[in-house]
Amino acid sequence: MNDLKIKKLIMTKTKSKISYPFDPEDFRKEGHLLVDTLSEYLNEALSGKEMPVLPWNDPDRLAEYFSFDSAGGEEESIDAFIKRIIDNSIHIHHSHYIGHQVTSPLPVTVLVQFCTTLLNNGAAIYEMGPVNMAMERNVIKKFGSLIGYNTAFDGIFTHGGTAGNLTAMLAARQVKTDYNIWEDGVRELDRPGYMISEQAHYSIGRNVKIMGIGDESIVKVPVDRNFRMRTDLLEEIKTAAEKKGIRVISVVASSCSTATGSYDDLKAIADFCEKHDLWMHVDGAHGMGVLFSEKYKGCVKGIERADSVVIDFHKMLLVPALNTLVMFRNGERSFETFAQKASYLFQKSQKNVWYNSAIRTIECTKSALGIIAYTAMKYYGNSYLRQYIDSRYDLADTFSMLVKSDRQLELAVEPESNIECFRFAPEGYSDIRLNQINSEIRNRIIKEGSFYIVQAELSEKIWLRLTIINPVTSENDLKDLLKRVLEIGEELS
Ligand SMILES: Cc1ncc(COP(=O)(O)O)c(C=O)c1O
Repeated sequence: MNDLKIKKLIMTKTKSKISYPFDPEDFRKEGHLLVDTLSEYLNEALSGKEMPVLPWNDPDRLAEYFSFDSAGGEEESIDAFIKRIIDNSIHIHHSHYIGHQVTSPLPVTVLVQFCTTLLNNGAAIYEMGPVNMAMERNVIKKFGSLIGYNTAFDGIFTHGGTAGNLTAMLAARQVKTDYNIWEDGVRELDRPGYMISEQAHYSIGRNVKIMGIGDESIVKVPVDRNFRMRTDLLEEIKTAAEKKGIRVISVVASSCSTATGSYDDLKAIADFCEKHDLWMHVDGAHGMGVLFSEKYKGCVKGIERADSVVIDFHKMLLVPALNTLVMFRNGERSFETFAQKASYLFQKSQKNVWYNSAIRTIECTKSALGIIAYTAMKYYGNSYLRQYIDSRYDLADTFSMLVKSDRQLELAVEPESNIECFRFAPEGYSDIRLNQINSEIRNRIIKEGSFYIVQAELSEKIWLRLTIINPVTSENDLKDLLKRVLEIGEELS
């Protein structure tokens, strides 16, 4: 019988029955073991140890492995349990993890999150998370100044970019409607429309549907050969949408797009929005890290004219998922959207105060996102993030040169960020066959565990897609990836 089991037995026989899980000494012991285990793991993952980046498992088998009746049970030590979690997880910190836009979180943010998880201050209102709200305030100020907003700006944290985009898109609809759409609902003949790029993240279109205004309210704008929104078509597309009875209220720009990392032309979009009094929203979930980079901040020229901007800290700002900031050029606008009458939470005199975040987003209780974002800014917010962004974007350029130097490989588009698409494409094969080959290359690579990469479909072609997000991924790792892609490709062709 292990310690925990003995303790449970003793405790359940005494009057402190339900408090036994809270023993501070157990917490201390398990906590020390946990930190030891995690630092060993970190060491192995960061040193590029031979390990499957994704230990591939059939989903049903893995569910069975973790069933309550199989291995482990109540008697398993916490340390053994943690090790089983680690062993079966995808290893984001490994230098061969170059897949989706999920970052290896800075260890200091993980430590602070360990603390905020125990404190569990639910940041919906000031009283339930005072430190969070104070820190959140300062992060918002920092980003207001990075963006170049004047003093009227404000912001709000959400769990993730999808919720962040929805928060901003609801604000756009509330502000650009001459009746109270929040209170009255959408009027029968009113069809508010959002102009979005064909390459916008799927959360944008989905959010329109969540708002209940349907598919026609998504006004798609084609992209150019670099997968940027065709701003030369904005006038024409708006007029065509209006002829169909759609009241265009907003343009949503991508900074950058998910599939190819392309930055839309914010200046041109801002001009168009100003001319027609439209709400300009920028989905900067992935690419807003360039605000820290002298070299790359030109990618978001014009950002200070956006009415709202979404920034994911859990992508290029090295913070554990999920952690998103929505910035508003005019902070007052963010209060109009969710005008709420919860008297048990908000006193009348507290209307529109910055420190009650629940009145400005779709969520009520939130974890202490502000504290974690603040931690990253406090310790790494200046020169480190600049170096990190520059090195990841530079490495993407190096990778594109490696791809172009091999005639069997093809690049989808010159990279503007750290996201890249390429494919194995020797001469003499149809696109249909190349699609099969490239899908198979990815399947084999992730199942053998040598790398984690993803795939994207662009203009009916399948591409292998990388996000060079991990701070330890090097040029040699990328050379090894290309070598493996070529080996498998040649075997299949
Ligand atoms: C451009 C963009 N916007 C929004 C999202 C959605 O963000 P989240 O996964 O945090 O909800 C993503 C996710 O990859 C993205 O790339």
